[in-house]
Amino acid sequence: MPEEDAEKDSFTALGEALEQDHRRLDDLWEMATREWREDPERSRAHFRTFSRGLRTHIQAEEDVLFPFFEEHGGEGAPQLTDLLREEHGRIREALSALLREVEEGAPDLEAENTALQDALWAHNAREESQLYPWFDAHATRGAAKEVSQEILFRLAGTRGAVDQSREG
Ligand SMILES: [Fe+2]
Ligand SMILES: [Fe+2]
Repeated sequence: MPEEDAEKDSFTALGEALEQDHRRLDDLWEMATREWREDPERSRAHFRTFSRGLRTHIQAEEDVLFPFFEEHGGEGAPQLTDLLREEHGRIREALSALLREVEEGAPDLEAENTALQDALWAHNAREESQLYPWFDAHATRGAAKEVSQEILFRLAGTRGAVDQSREG
């Protein structure tokens, strides 16, 4: 593979990696919800891993990806990123409410689950259709590589916990 193509692959992977992280978190959440009645302890472990992973994901976007998008004149900046930050605020609130219910052992998670689902679904779709493709298409190589590495490093920090919870 020519050196240029190899370079390109190493940074276009970020949008894809973030999408995969959305799916990974969806799977964890689904597993946690499914196991809630049968095995609350195991379910709780999945909810905690989900919560840690989601908080890391949105924090990395706010610290690294959104500022990069704004500084490099991404289409729709800063309105798009302002909206995404607002949505993160709602996601954090709904996530806290959900975790509170999980830790207190409430028998019915329906309302908290629905609130988080509503906040998260449209948000992830917006990022996947407007933000991530922009990054993969327009980011300059050197700077984009740094952004990618920083985000992938942070996401990797939450993956060990996932593997442990799957084994446990
Ligand atoms: Fe986000
Ligand atoms: Fe995201």
